[in-house]
Amino acid sequence: MSSLMENLQDRAEELQAILDGITEPLVLIDPGFRVRRVNRATLEFSDESDFPSVLGRKCYALLYNRSGICPFCPMKEHHENEADFNREFEGRNAIGREVFHVINDQKETLYLDFFPIKKEGKVVSVVEKISNITRLKEKEDENLRIRNLASLGTFISGVAHELNNPLTGMSLTLQNLMNNLSSVDPDFFRKRLEMIKEDLTRAAMIVADIISFAKPDKLVTTSADIYETILKAKDSVIWVYPVLSKNVEWEILGEPGTYFQFNPVKMERLFINLFKNSLQAYDYGEGKIRVEIRRTRNMLHVFVEDTAGGIPESMLDKIFSPFFTKNKSGIGTGLGLSICHSIVREHSGELTVRSYNRRTRFRVSLPLEQPRGN
Ligand SMILES: Nc1ncnc2c1ncn2[C@@H]1O[C@H](COP(=O)(O)OP(=O)(O)O)[C@@H](O)[C@H]1O
Ligand SMILES: [Mg+2]
Repeated sequence: MSSLMENLQDRAEELQAILDGITEPLVLIDPGFRVRRVNRATLEFSDESDFPSVLGRKCYALLYNRSGICPFCPMKEHHENEADFNREFEGRNAIGREVFHVINDQKETLYLDFFPIKKEGKVVSVVEKISNITRLKEKEDENLRIRNLASLGTFISGVAHELNNPLTGMSLTLQNLMNNLSSVDPDFFRKRLEMIKEDLTRAAMIVADIISFAKPDKLVTTSADIYETILKAKDSVIWVYPVLSKNVEWEILGEPGTYFQFNPVKMERLFINLFKNSLQAYDYGEGKIRVEIRRTRNMLHVFVEDTAGGIPESMLDKIFSPFFTKNKSGIGTGLGLSICHSIVREHSGELTVRSYNRRTRFRVSLPLEQPRGN
């Protein structure tokens, strides 16, 4: 008999040694929220010196200095006088929670795992494991900051390049005008002034994109013709990018007079951005931009399609993120599609993309009736 007892004693000591080897606090809690067993890490966590001063105490008081059940406890609906914890764990092997906790005046982030212990189908106690994930979180934040800084760098160099093109253009045209001041040909002057105006518009559009990203203004809608708006966007893009669009053909399928409530200025910017991306994808080459307007009973869909090479599958979920750009030679701010996305969202619509066989197809879907409040 005594050897059996010794054996049991040995096993219990072994088990405690294993638990104490685990550096994260482990706490066995009964349905009365009383602490039944802990490992050594729990003593340190709760600032207690020995096991007897811990056992039998309420878990919320011991671990979190609270006078009642913790608001984040997955068993908080459970009454302390019920015999078991059943409902909380129905069909689950564990419940996890991320919580803030103040330790020595420092705010720490803890991850709590709750594992049920079952006996004849009933949850008779719960093991709580406490992991301090503060350092891990800080590392994640640090990585995010580094990634943001890298995106900011790409963005700034993109803006600088994009602005540099029209600025260089204007500077060359002005130089050319100055060298020919003695010329009396008004056509010559008009042509040069037009070129400067184009470059100015191009620079202003880049600045407008940045402003609308940084500080989107409130959506004001009027009844307008989407077909007209799309034609205007096409003309603006051709006017601002005459060389890029020189070899590109346009097909616009739709009917004039497709009126509904939207913001024509924002909608034009959306299509300018989509068209500009297609032109840049053709990269001065030949091609076609196909636009199709389709109206259903309560939705309007506009498809913008090009065959300029497509977008790799792995990139599709990133292109709408601000600052994401893969444009050649460092031009591009990575804001275009992110702005398109927010314009469509403001109109309670949806912007989606598909790409296959070197083809890219954006779909803008807008409700014909704007929900109230817009
Ligand atoms: N029609 C398209 N064909 C191929 N790639 C595209 C097309 N439209 C967008 N992309 C890709 O999506 C990226 C993000 O576009 P966008 O947000 O407008 O930023 P940016 O044009 O400044 O790079 C582009 O850099 C490009 O790689
Ligand atoms: Mg773009």
